[in-house]
Amino acid sequence: MLQLPRLIGHRGAARHAPENTLASLRMAAVQGCLMVEFDVKLTADGVPVLMHDERLERTTDGTGRVQDLDFESIRRLDAGRWFSPAHAGERVPTLAEALQLCIALDLLVNIEIKPCPGRGAETAGIACSLARTLWPADRQAPLVSSFDAEALEMVRHVVPDWPLGFLIDRRPPDWREQAERLNAATLNVNARREDAASIAEYRTLGRPILAYTVNSVPAAAEVFSWGVSSVFTDTPQGLAPALRQF
Ligand code: G3P
Ligand code: CA
Repeated sequence: MLQLPRLIGHRGAARHAPENTLASLRMAAVQGCLMVEFDVKLTADGVPVLMHDERLERTTDGTGRVQDLDFESIRRLDAGRWFSPAHAGERVPTLAEALQLCIALDLLVNIEIKPCPGRGAETAGIACSLARTLWPADRQAPLVSSFDAEALEMVRHVVPDWPLGFLIDRRPPDWREQAERLNAATLNVNARREDAASIAEYRTLGRPILAYTVNSVPAAAEVFSWGVSSVFTDTPQGLAPALRQF
């Protein structure tokens, strides 16, 4: 049985620390999160690192595409100053470092494989192979999710026994067939595009529905009332009051 806490820290605790850094993962744990989500992309030399965007400008002091720089160059960048001076010096973590920290903090994990033109399957293959070697066999395996169909096929191939999250932004007409074929453990849907009726339809699949990204108590209360199991949030401590209502 998949253990899914009601709140999942989004990119760590992205409102309170620079997203997708070790500081953000620690912040999620400090705020009481039992599970964190983070994004993974490949550097030019094939190192899986935590990064949401295709480009470096928004969350580092670097420029260009993540996939065009090698790890050594990306490691030199500052991934915290953009967020606040107090976080200056924060580095872009590798997937290995993030997983090791989550193991040490006893956090459940959702690894999101970010779409990367032509490299989605490669990213998933490298990330899942690495995660499999690092993750303790006696702990709940990471939930691995993606919007990228090729990445999901590779996840299924490399870690066939791990839970897979089928990420949906705009619902494709064949969402049910895709989810069944991938044996998805969860449907991870965009809260802003859904309503009570669409969540009810998703729930006929019989899998937990996770909604992203929910950052206010009223929004969380609403999606929980629709039957969503868990929400991804940038502010775990801000949503704690919503849990008392459900
Ligand atoms: O995994 C849920 C959510 O993080 C997906 O959207 O853009 O925040 O990675 P995004
Ligand atoms: Ca994400």
